[in-house]
Amino acid sequence: MTNIRVRSQESGVRRDELIRCEGVWKIYNEGRPHEVQALADVSLEIKKGSFTILNGPSGSGKTTLLALLGTMDRPSRGGIFMKGKDITGFSDTALSTLRRDSIGFVFQNFNLIPRLSAWENVSTPLIPAGVSEKGRRDRAMVLLEKLGLADRASHAPEELSGGEQQRVAIARALINNPEIIILDEPTSNIDAEATDILIDILKNLKSDSKTLLVSTHDQVLRPHADTVFELKRGRLAGITHD
Ligand SMILES: Nc1ncnc2c1ncn2[C@@H]1O[C@H](COP(=O)(O)OP(=O)(O)OP(=O)(O)O)[C@@H](O)[C@H]1O
Ligand SMILES: [Mg+2]
Repeated sequence: MTNIRVRSQESGVRRDELIRCEGVWKIYNEGRPHEVQALADVSLEIKKGSFTILNGPSGSGKTTLLALLGTMDRPSRGGIFMKGKDITGFSDTALSTLRRDSIGFVFQNFNLIPRLSAWENVSTPLIPAGVSEKGRRDRAMVLLEKLGLADRASHAPEELSGGEQQRVAIARALINNPEIIILDEPTSNIDAEATDILIDILKNLKSDSKTLLVSTHDQVLRPHADTVFELKRGRLAGITHD
């Protein structure tokens, strides 16, 4: 990985700094007729073990920024640093290794595989590592039990409620024991009761020292966050610390 640029002041990186972005722009279809400036000059820092919210109206760039911070996409300009290392020069393989080992992503629509049971969905990230079926099942069951879904382990996604599907997606995001959990609009497809369960899960993850990064445009998660970044038309328009 010789193409990795290490931040010139790496020795000065604060020990609690986990992710930082500096002057990040994302322009979709750059130079083409349907060009969209989704992020403009965003600089922010996410602390290890913190609960951070990205807030902002529809189209303000929340999902785009989560994808960049979660290494699923690359910025058009600017730097993204993980523990002081500039990851924008990482190869696709190095980025996917970093993502597999460090980041769990819970998509807005959960992205479960319809023909697989709950435990099989949870265990899919273990397949590339060659973990046996029994090993995968055992590890998936531990998480499903923790999330109150042991009795739904053999159910297909279509047999589960929205909140249950979300918990399966959370279990899948946790299976490789990542340091960072990213959730995109986690309250948008679940009811009030499932939202209370979600809040408990997020609190437990925080007390397990996980770093939580959540996009939302409703206010219900806000009292639980350490930091709220407000996005407006792709720009960072405000920062609130707890
Ligand atoms: N793949 C893409 N190609 C082109 N434009 C895109 C793409 N993805 C997002 N955009 C545009 O970028 C802008 C930011 O989109 P993004 O999905 O990040 O917003 P958001 O804040 O997550 O919105 P929402 O609250 O509706 O989920 C929007 O104008 C959107 O239309
Ligand atoms: Mg979005």
